Amino acid sequence: MLELEHTTKTHDESRQGEALDMLPTGKSTGRKLYIESYGCQMNFSDSEIVASILVDNGFETTKDYKEADVVFINTCSIRENAEQRVRNRLKEFESAKAKNPGMVVGVLGCMAERLKSKFLEEEKLVDVVVGPDAYRDLPNLIGKVDDGAKAVNVLLSREETYADINPVRLNSNGISAFISIMRGCDNMCSFCVVPFTRGRERSRDFHSIVKEAQDLFNAGYKEVTLLGQNVDSYKYTAPVAEGETPQPTVNFAQLLAMVAEVSPELRVRFSTSHPKDITDEVLHTMARYENICKYIHLPVQSGNSRVLELMNRTYDREWYMERVDAIRRIIPECGISTDVITGFCTETEEEHQETLSMMDYVKYDFAYMFAYSERPGTLAAKRYEDDIPEDVKKRRLTEVVNKQQEHSLYRAQNFVGKVQKVLIEGFSKRSDQDFCGRNDQNTMVVFPVDERFKRGQYVHVMVERCTSATLMGKIVD
Ligand code: SAH
Ligand code: SF4
Ligand code: F3S
Repeated sequence: MLELEHTTKTHDESRQGEALDMLPTGKSTGRKLYIESYGCQMNFSDSEIVASILVDNGFETTKDYKEADVVFINTCSIRENAEQRVRNRLKEFESAKAKNPGMVVGVLGCMAERLKSKFLEEEKLVDVVVGPDAYRDLPNLIGKVDDGAKAVNVLLSREETYADINPVRLNSNGISAFISIMRGCDNMCSFCVVPFTRGRERSRDFHSIVKEAQDLFNAGYKEVTLLGQNVDSYKYTAPVAEGETPQPTVNFAQLLAMVAEVSPELRVRFSTSHPKDITDEVLHTMARYENICKYIHLPVQSGNSRVLELMNRTYDREWYMERVDAIRRIIPECGISTDVITGFCTETEEEHQETLSMMDYVKYDFAYMFAYSERPGTLAAKRYEDDIPEDVKKRRLTEVVNKQQEHSLYRAQNFVGKVQKVLIEGFSKRSDQDFCGRNDQNTMVVFPVDERFKRGQYVHVMVERCTSATLMGKIVD
């Protein structure tokens, strides 16, 4: 975790440097691939697509970059320190490359897209730079490097969704998997680099999404998370030939229902919801299906309407509160989490207080909290001065983190004395005498192993105690 990033639980944007675990091998050429991912769940999901493409091209995989022929790092640009982390990691690859000059080092993902060929000048050990929409070109690009050239493909696409690629599940527990349902983002929040690194928003064919969920369920998976930067704007219309009747458009609520219909035994989660777009139809669909988890990640960013306007979030404080009220009305037991940015351009002390009072209003189950980090090329970088001193940003961040700590504890305490349905994910981090898994609201639950049950099964757990991040109890089935 970096000094300016604080979460009350592990956040995917803070997941760092997870290497892939194990890959089935295709028609092997004996060349070894190592891939490491940073950033959000979308990036981890993309690494599974990259692995699939390369395994189909004869690669085997390794967990040790020192023995790899191809070393890929799938990068994130969301905050400056995310990029710094990647640069530091690249330094560590230098000695491996010195020992094995034939080793191909590639930078994938958002930083590749942001810096393009500049990367090759800045980091001499890098041979190949590939943006998020160009992964099908990887075998060809590696071929160019083998022939002694450097290779770059950072073309963004309006169509690419990798819908036909069957991702190789990396680091999988065999129980939970991510499914990308869309790519890119059209929102242009002024602080955010994602629209520049990921391109225009496009939705993936729902047939391929439902099929992927069905295939995962058939393979023993019990939980899928549908991924997109703004899942509520999912919209897919099947293309039709001239003269044919147009197919109806499928929206996110309808997609959610289709995935939930795969099996009542398959839990369905999704991320991220945008407050401007989340509809009552989605909320009613969640309420209707027992297997759609009652948990919504609804990033607020700021509790003040003027700051929200500068951020170009296109909702205000009142709108956000009304959406929270709607969630509480339609799904009373729903968990809600958020993202907060402190010290955005021109944010006053009073405006910061409004973020704190918004937190009091919602009492989030979890939050991912960040000090504002100016990103080159964004609307905010062009229009506004990054004028809040670093120490003020950090102090405000600490206040937000401390408040969230109280609220996480408050929410956790509400589960004490209640029975929770938990999907067993495996042994707890601390001990193989304990199982762990999450309840519907995404809170981690730890309980003693019971021989009658195993990973991938649902159990009912009576919660007896808690910390702000974990519920503890025992199985009552
Ligand atoms: N699509 C999601 C967010 C993706 S980025 C959404 O709209 O909610 C994840 C989080 O990183 C954002 O919600 C925001 O809180 C944070 N973030 C993005 N850009 C940032 C920046 N320049 N400085 C600090 N935090 C940032
Ligand atoms: Fe970034 Fe806003 Fe798009 Fe989220 S919705 S990815 S914050 S531009
Ligand atoms: Fe980072 Fe790109 Fe995701 S910037 S947060 S990896 S979309």
